[in-house]
Amino acid sequence: MTQRTLVLLKPDAVRRGLVGNVLARFEAKGLSIVALEHRHIDAAMADAHYAEHVERDFYPPLRTFVTSGPLVALVLEGDEAIEVVRALNGATDGRKAAPGTIRGDLSLSNRENLVHGSDSPESAEREIALWFPNLG
Ligand SMILES: Nc1ncnc2c1ncn2[C@@H]1O[C@H](COP(=O)(O)OP(=O)(O)OP(=O)(O)O)[C@@H](O)[C@H]1O
Ligand SMILES: [Mg+2]
Repeated sequence: MTQRTLVLLKPDAVRRGLVGNVLARFEAKGLSIVALEHRHIDAAMADAHYAEHVERDFYPPLRTFVTSGPLVALVLEGDEAIEVVRALNGATDGRKAAPGTIRGDLSLSNRENLVHGSDSPESAEREIALWFPNLG
């Protein structure tokens, strides 16, 4: 089934010059970019995006990180896009993520793990409406 998913290339991806590398992987897989924006978010936007995590111990440094510089937000579309993007991203902890995945190849951190992908159809709908309210 064709799905849309919200992806973030987090500030570490921009800082490290890995935007092209990561976007190329999504495009090579066959996913379509239907929206894309370079953006520097504030704490309120971080809290809205990570609403499910705001009470967690790891959240304050995560908020500092995601607001530390510009990121690239995009919507990808394709068959089973939500699960496909999660598989391409790899496990949350870059140290444990499998080689061949974005995090497994390019991240050595549990926090600075380069990418975000929506984790369910409900999350995708919420996150796409949050980041791209004008997307039809
Ligand atoms: N134990 C942790 N220590 C530090 N940062 C963490 C930890 N767990 C999660 N994070 C950070 O919070 C983000 C959200 O955590 P979540 O459990 O939703 O992982 P994920 O779904 O793999 O990642 P994302 O939501 O960014 O796609 C992670 O991507 C990571 O940047
Ligand atoms: Mg998540």
